[in-house]
Amino acid sequence: MRILVCKNYEEMSKKAAQMILSQVTLKPNSVLGLATGSTPIGMYKNLVELYNNKLVDFSDVVTFNLDEYYQLPITNDQSYHYFMHDNLFNHINIKPENIHVPNGMTDSVEAECIAYEQAINEADGIDIQVLGIGTNAHIGFNEPTISFERGTHLVDLTDSTIQANARFFDSIEDVPKKAVTMGTGSIFKARKIMLLACGEGKAEAIYNTVHGKITPEVPASILQFHHDIVLILDEAAASKL
Ligand code: GLP
Repeated sequence: MRILVCKNYEEMSKKAAQMILSQVTLKPNSVLGLATGSTPIGMYKNLVELYNNKLVDFSDVVTFNLDEYYQLPITNDQSYHYFMHDNLFNHINIKPENIHVPNGMTDSVEAECIAYEQAINEADGIDIQVLGIGTNAHIGFNEPTISFERGTHLVDLTDSTIQANARFFDSIEDVPKKAVTMGTGSIFKARKIMLLACGEGKAEAIYNTVHGKITPEVPASILQFHHDIVLILDEAAASKL
């Protein structure tokens, strides 16, 4: 694991955007695995700025998002489909047909999960996967559990995740209780992984990810086995290392 500790969120976001820039510059038809949550917003802002300054071209880039809430319409501003368009896709020259976000509104979730995995495989896998991390060390929506999940699947969100996400909804009742997420296995297959974390609230999850026992109870701990992973942290998230 490579660990980069940055002075603050701005520096982290710049570093992360630079890594995506290098990836897309070296391989213009890169397949990017993308994440939502508040952490990568700064990276997306930097990418839009790089695009506006004509330093990066997304016309051949393909993206796969990690996850989506189950049965939350894409018109809802808390859906991850909405988030990605609002923070990135609407501001760059990516082709709509190259964008993939799991369809949480499907009435056949099993078929959707199989199709999502197939689409990743047909794109020849993910070149670089961006990850955030939950306070319980979840990645995507792979919550602490008794076994690692291989592929895209439907998941019940834990109470702590529902609580953490409640800040984005009017009331806790409105927070979706289920989500469709790429599995730990799908994430692990990415050729490179870049995990972003900021703030003291993530310090313990980061400590357990880096130094803890590898266990599905700490989903991100499996990343210790990955051959090409970088953690980009601010000082607070790195404070327990
Ligand atoms: C959600 C997302 C994760 C994200 C996590 C942390 O649960 N499914 O992909 O990493 O939130 O979010 P934040 O960056 O807002 O702390």
